[in-house]
Amino acid sequence: MTTRITWILGNWKQNHLAADAAECAQGIASGLEAALANPVAGCPEVRVGVAPTYLALAATAPFARPAKDAWLLAQDVAAQESGAFTGEVGVAMLKEAGVDAAIVGHSERRAHFGDTNALVARKLANALAHGLTAVLCVGESLESRDKGEHESTVITQLSESLAQVDSNAIDARLVIAYEPVWAIGTGRTASPEQARDMHRAIRSHLGQTYGDAGRGRSILYGGSVKPGNAAELLAAGDIDGFLIGGASLKADSFLAIAAAAAQTARPSA
Ligand code: PGA
Repeated sequence: MTTRITWILGNWKQNHLAADAAECAQGIASGLEAALANPVAGCPEVRVGVAPTYLALAATAPFARPAKDAWLLAQDVAAQESGAFTGEVGVAMLKEAGVDAAIVGHSERRAHFGDTNALVARKLANALAHGLTAVLCVGESLESRDKGEHESTVITQLSESLAQVDSNAIDARLVIAYEPVWAIGTGRTASPEQARDMHRAIRSHLGQTYGDAGRGRSILYGGSVKPGNAAELLAAGDIDGFLIGGASLKADSFLAIAAAAAQTARPSA
């Protein structure tokens, strides 16, 4: 039985104006207790969180109460603390807005905005060094999977993205999200076996590099997660929750996935 936290995280991307974000967050906050009630025996702790746009953080914050209900996440974070960096939002600004955690290295940032492993490494190190929890995203393209290079692609992303992180900072504040690019927003989900095998490879790499502190990290799956496939993914083992795009935009479907996390028995490690 795992003691790793199960995270159910919504990434709202460039969706939801402030009023819609507040309404969705309120819906999640009000339904959460019921969704997580009477968990299956041995269920690990389930924590939920949502990542609105920067401009909707303030409207969402009142419904996101760390350690109690939902966590508040940012979708990205600057690599530097402050200064002449037009368009950037730093850790201190996020904390002031009530943010608990930041997503770093999402594949859409990597594909459309030039976030390289080197830049992701600086963002990640900065977030962790200044007290945010960070959700580091990694994942291979379809081309890489078709060539059979998916595991080496992901391990390279992982190690290069962690290159600037002090090994003392490898603790519960580091969460990994495996999101195969070909499964994001496509309706095509990795099979439970594909996801589990990659999570095992990631865990083994973290264990070899950082010992128990690395091995014990929560590793989430992302890519077309829906209420209908959440339970079978969790039941595969080694999947410690989800980073959810489309299905997190409505409180009902988000809560259904959270409920699946509370009701699905995890195989023993
Ligand atoms: P999706 O997005 O659930 O819409 O596939 C996942 C993500 O990008 O985190």
